[in-house]
Amino acid sequence: MKFNYLKFEKRDKIGILTLDRPNALNALNEDVFKELTGFFNDKETIQTIRALVITGEGKAFIAGADIKAMQEYSTQDGYDFSEIGKGVFDQIANLEIPVIAAINGFALGGGLELALSCDIRVASEKARLGLPEVNLGLIPGFNGTQRLPRLVGAGNAMYLMMLGEGITANEAYQLGIVQKLAKPESVLEETIELAEKIAGKSPNALRLIKKMVHQGVELNFKDAGKMESKEFGRLFKEDQKEREEGINAFLEKRKPNW
Ligand code: HXC
Repeated sequence: MKFNYLKFEKRDKIGILTLDRPNALNALNEDVFKELTGFFNDKETIQTIRALVITGEGKAFIAGADIKAMQEYSTQDGYDFSEIGKGVFDQIANLEIPVIAAINGFALGGGLELALSCDIRVASEKARLGLPEVNLGLIPGFNGTQRLPRLVGAGNAMYLMMLGEGITANEAYQLGIVQKLAKPESVLEETIELAEKIAGKSPNALRLIKKMVHQGVELNFKDAGKMESKEFGRLFKEDQKEREEGINAFLEKRKPNW
């Protein structure tokens, strides 16, 4: 697939998707979203990787939605843009493989919202993260008002959204927005290393962990627990291949071969 604003490469079983619009700090507009949708719909390519890393070209991860493009929006345009972005970010959240954001620089507004739709976030110690929409008379519109409080609680989310100033990567790490800090010069390499470790685990278990976490937050505790029991049970008969290999490998003192 040919892209203008994305680059994709594979390192063995790890896919690396780079937002490539550095002159606008990788700002998200409808064309970028179209390409992202195309990429995530390309099941053939995605089937060849076991984990995906998303990063940005240049000094930013993504500096948000394209502010210039939004200047002349109508009510309908704003609604549509919000829905298009949500659709793309849901594609990320619903991918059956782990997705890790390698936050190499600014992750602001829609850029942080994209990172929040990933499963794990690694950030450069020099990155700045935030939801500055309030400074533009806007609100986060790609589910940031929903994903952030689910991740860090309402108080922390309100603090970030109402202050609109952004925080350092270290502050984001302490809040639990970022799971790992990396040296600025090696953030991509360190993220790939993490992706490789995770990609060495049972793909089926990874898929189920992701499903339990994402679908579980939509359910009450009891129903979510039932869903977990059901999937756990299925691993002993219907869905047993990787469980058999994992347990056999342990007992035979060897590495599992998924
Ligand atoms: C469009 C952007 C942009 C953006 C930067 N650029 N962010 N263009 N949309 N979000 C452009 C600049 O206009 C400039 O273009 C070029 O990228 C380089 O940016 P500079 O500002 O010159 O860089 P710097 O001085 O280093 O400052 C970096 C920055 C700043 C602090 C990240 O660019 C900034 O504050 N950007 C806006 C961040 C923001 O408010 N994001 C939230 C957007 S709203 P030229 O042509 O001048 O070289 C949002 C809503 C989501 O995300 C929900 C929608 C439904």
